[in-house]
Amino acid sequence: MPVFPISRLRRLRRTEKLRELVQEVSLSPKDLICPVFVEEGIQAKKQVNSMPAIERLPLSEVVNEVDAIVELGIPGIMLFGIPENKDEHGTSAYVEHGIIQKAISEIRKNFGDKIVIMADVCLCQYTSSGHCGLIKNGNIDNDSSLETLSKIAISQAKAGVDVVSPSAMMDGQVKSIRQGLDNESFSNVAIMSHSAKHRSNFYSPFRDAAECAPQFGDRKTYQVPYTNPREAMREVETDINEGVDIVMIKPALTYLDLISETKRRFNVPVSAYSVSGEYALVKGAAMQGWIDEENMTNEILYSIKRAGADMIVTYFAKSAATSLVK
Ligand code: PBG
Repeated sequence: MPVFPISRLRRLRRTEKLRELVQEVSLSPKDLICPVFVEEGIQAKKQVNSMPAIERLPLSEVVNEVDAIVELGIPGIMLFGIPENKDEHGTSAYVEHGIIQKAISEIRKNFGDKIVIMADVCLCQYTSSGHCGLIKNGNIDNDSSLETLSKIAISQAKAGVDVVSPSAMMDGQVKSIRQGLDNESFSNVAIMSHSAKHRSNFYSPFRDAAECAPQFGDRKTYQVPYTNPREAMREVETDINEGVDIVMIKPALTYLDLISETKRRFNVPVSAYSVSGEYALVKGAAMQGWIDEENMTNEILYSIKRAGADMIVTYFAKSAATSLVK
């Protein structure tokens, strides 16, 4: 007598269309946010060494780039600026004609509301120390940094940003930015905080892209240790109490548990940042011919969605969108 299985899960895997009908998790270009690096004072695009196919753009190329992103159906960009000058106050992060402010207004002028303009709010690209906060007596000073972060957000709001995205991991940054924006009548500008940004080894290629490596020490006194999931949840909770609109877990792939925990515990939109190191791992292996880049990227992005991310900041945004619409 043959033994028949009670449940045959293979029945619904039989044809492509059956598999489509029962697919549980979806991924669309609409889920993606594309990072864009804009460098002050250059004339031509510059390739980022450790991030193949990622470039730093001169201001004159930004509209072309955003055009391609809009065409692909990607709803948002995340802008990072690389200034010509750094100083101890991070001045070029908030001056009216800073590189990021110029990029924002140029994009707004050309695209209106056809793209959500998000911009990084941090100090590390702009300070001579390469740290995300200001230095006082040799330490990364929390409270004096708050005022500067708020100034940066206001300057971006004046240029026309939709969403400011603080990534400095200073305590109280969301509250300080919210109050600063509201005082200047920018109550409609939203905040997507890098809420649980971990002290990660996966950021190193980004330092090539944005020239923001710390000149002394490391970021352990402000970023979350990857050993502390409850502390990460406190960061998320704190940001929510301070009025954040979207929380973020960063990096993504090695923190899927925290994405899923955040989604389960809180009722705010959850974003995940699939960072430069995640990109470099896939790219590196693909360039050796060891893996298939397109299939690998899909699996990774689906897994981030499956964990509970409502949106994903990823350097694969353009290539993934291209593959999803074809
Ligand atoms: C800086 C910042 C970093 C990243 C985003 N904003 C680097 C860091 O904290 O060292 C990393 C992003 C990536 O690796 O893709 N505040």
